Amino acid sequence: MAKAKTAYVCTECGAEHSKWQGQCAECGVWNVLSAFVVESAKPAAVVSIGAQRGGYAGAAAGAPRITALTDVLLTAEARTHTGIGELDRVLGGGLVEGSVVLIGGDPGIGKSTLLLQMLGTLGAVLPSLYVTGEESLSQVAARAQRLDLPLAPLHALAETCIERILEQAMAARPRVLVIDSIQTIWTEMLTAAPGSVSQVRESAAKLTRFAKETGTSVFLVGHVTKDGGIAGPRVLEHMVDAVLYFEGESGSRFRVLRAFKNRFGAVNELGVFAMSEKGLREVPNPSAIFLSSHAGPTPGSAVMVTREGTRPLLVEVQALVDQSSLGNPRRVVIGLEQNRLAMLLAVLHRHGGIAAYDQDVFVNVVGGIRVQETASDVPVLMAVLSSLRDRPLPEKSIAFGEVGLSGEIRPVPNGEERLKEAATHGFRRAVVPAANAPKKGRVGEMEVIGVERLSQAIDACR
Ligand code: TYD
Ligand code: MG
Repeated sequence: MAKAKTAYVCTECGAEHSKWQGQCAECGVWNVLSAFVVESAKPAAVVSIGAQRGGYAGAAAGAPRITALTDVLLTAEARTHTGIGELDRVLGGGLVEGSVVLIGGDPGIGKSTLLLQMLGTLGAVLPSLYVTGEESLSQVAARAQRLDLPLAPLHALAETCIERILEQAMAARPRVLVIDSIQTIWTEMLTAAPGSVSQVRESAAKLTRFAKETGTSVFLVGHVTKDGGIAGPRVLEHMVDAVLYFEGESGSRFRVLRAFKNRFGAVNELGVFAMSEKGLREVPNPSAIFLSSHAGPTPGSAVMVTREGTRPLLVEVQALVDQSSLGNPRRVVIGLEQNRLAMLLAVLHRHGGIAAYDQDVFVNVVGGIRVQETASDVPVLMAVLSSLRDRPLPEKSIAFGEVGLSGEIRPVPNGEERLKEAATHGFRRAVVPAANAPKKGRVGEMEVIGVERLSQAIDACR
């Protein structure tokens, strides 16, 4: 056994330190360093998986050498369609050979269901292996049966030791490997408890090496901590090719899979699913599912057109503004960035002359979707204003646009496409940045009001 050495790794940013300290020197966060046992780097201790068993055909061979990029043989990425269109979309057009994908999300959101469904549809094309560290084999089989999946091509393994998992995988040679979940996996090389930073990191490193050496596509399920990051060090996100997050409200039927990082496709691409008895169903045309169904116009509600990924979505944002009894009024945001709301309220005060410093402000995006675009600025302000005045916005209206610190309304990309989508869904009035508004002031039946300053947007709320 090689001599063990202890390093300290930051659970926030993944930076390594040789001795313990209260604050991470890289990211400055306190009390985040966690002990991490590393083997001394004796060459003998490093055994490549390929060397243990001879690897699959195509495992890396020979010494590395410097090559001009013009001499590199370009082969198109081999992509396989998973049989689930929305998943393919988030992956950037299908499954890439030898890629490692991390799927994070709250417990019970549907990670295991989605991956089992994927293996069910892939099973006919590619041999696969589902490794479960959380459920027993009979639970997995029962779930597959409930989902009406063909059982014959599904192979599962209930094991948590990474060395034994890889041994089995080398023998069975799956092309797709699912590890559910990475937090339950441990390596014999370390004495730390499963789920600890060092175990998660080392196991993930072994799986990544395995994927690259054998061309197997690996999916890792990762649990999410209370503050929304994947438990374990951030370094896990750096190690893999793609990080996908499952989002959704527990009360809502809809689930959104978002690409947070993707070496093979666009980030922020969304896949939308609906939960059903028989598992997750795709929603290929999701544009209007994030609207709540009010009987009539309601104060504090505005509809925006966001463009997360490559398609426009109509999303309702709700605000509640209420007299505060606190010295420090509350600013609570769900589905948007907290600091952005503080900034918008400051702009509203400074350039719109409307004060909310003695008011609690709550903002919620309907359907549990997270909106990361700045195009949400104008609709958020309109919802806040509508609640503050207790007056609904004009019926059948939408808005989008970014608000600048000097009170200007900035254009957003793909304005035309957003307007068309809103017009198709029967909206009659749009408040958008002047640069995004068409010259004739209409799109189909919909009137389009172009605004340049915050004050004009406020006037358009009446
Ligand atoms: P599960 O896939 O186990 O969630 P995770 O792996 O993210 O923790 O799903 C949680 C529960 O929800 C499980 O009992 C099955 C149920 N479920 C459905 O009935 N239909 C669905 O479409 C999904 C996604 C889940
Ligand atoms: Mg699960």
